[in-house]
Amino acid sequence: MAKRSLEKWKTYNSVFDEFTRRNLFRLQSQGIFEDMVSHISQGKEALIFLATTKKQNQEDKTNYVIIKIYRLENCDFNQMFNLLRMDKRYINIKRSKRDVIFTWAQREFRNIMRARSVIRVPIPIKQYYNILIMEMIGDNEPARKIKDDIPKYPQKFFDTTMENIIKMMKINLVHGDLSQYNILNNNEEPVFIDFSQAVPLNDVSGKEILFRDVDNLIKFFNKNKAKIKQAEIRETLLQEMDTTDKEL
Ligand SMILES: Nc1ncnc2c1ncn2[C@@H]1O[C@H](COP(=O)(O)OP(=O)(O)OP(=O)(O)O)[C@@H](O)[C@H]1O
Ligand SMILES: [Mg+2]
Repeated sequence: MAKRSLEKWKTYNSVFDEFTRRNLFRLQSQGIFEDMVSHISQGKEALIFLATTKKQNQEDKTNYVIIKIYRLENCDFNQMFNLLRMDKRYINIKRSKRDVIFTWAQREFRNIMRARSVIRVPIPIKQYYNILIMEMIGDNEPARKIKDDIPKYPQKFFDTTMENIIKMMKINLVHGDLSQYNILNNNEEPVFIDFSQAVPLNDVSGKEILFRDVDNLIKFFNKNKAKIKQAEIRETLLQEMDTTDKEL
């Protein structure tokens, strides 16, 4: 039954090439997910689906997971290759399209794992080639992005967001694509997602990327009634960098 339901995704998009389809079946038969139920989002590089997982017992509510599938055909492979090479963890990456995409998915998985040691992020469950499976953030449905579900108390929400950013700095990690599109509003708590571009803070452009992330957020929150002073935030970040530099 569950297997058959996967058939309907077959024609959905170019991402369901034979290779990806086979791997989805494999993950399904391993019980990593039960049934794909809806298509949530179609980004430039990845498709996102909601899937159910098996109930552990009778009282269990249905659990959901998120399946992120990097497109083998549509990815901007050259940009991925260049970004990966700049990350010193992947300096020796081969210039093969498939390798680059699989490594990209693997890097996102690893980045979420690392971030998880200090902040609330979706629990990563499995990465298999271009497929990434993780916990769904949200109660009975996926939590919305802050762009669509503006925080009730923007100043407080921003402060918690900054605390998260600083906690990540302490483990030498910068998100790299932080904006109102990649932060979910989970009952008025920020949850960062989409870690594919995260880099070590002590990479060549780590600090520049960190400032870019924070400037994006200041702009968004100030448009939504917060009163954040960019100079003060920069000062805080520079002080944190100083202590972090010594610790790393
Ligand atoms: N763990 C999750 N829980 C709930 N919703 C999620 C989760 N992961 C992703 N989503 C939803 O799917 C959307 C797209 O996810 P994500 O940002 O990871 O991919 P993307 O932006 O399409 O990828 P890319 O930037 O590579 O094109 C998110 O904006 C969010 O609405
Ligand atoms: Mg995104």
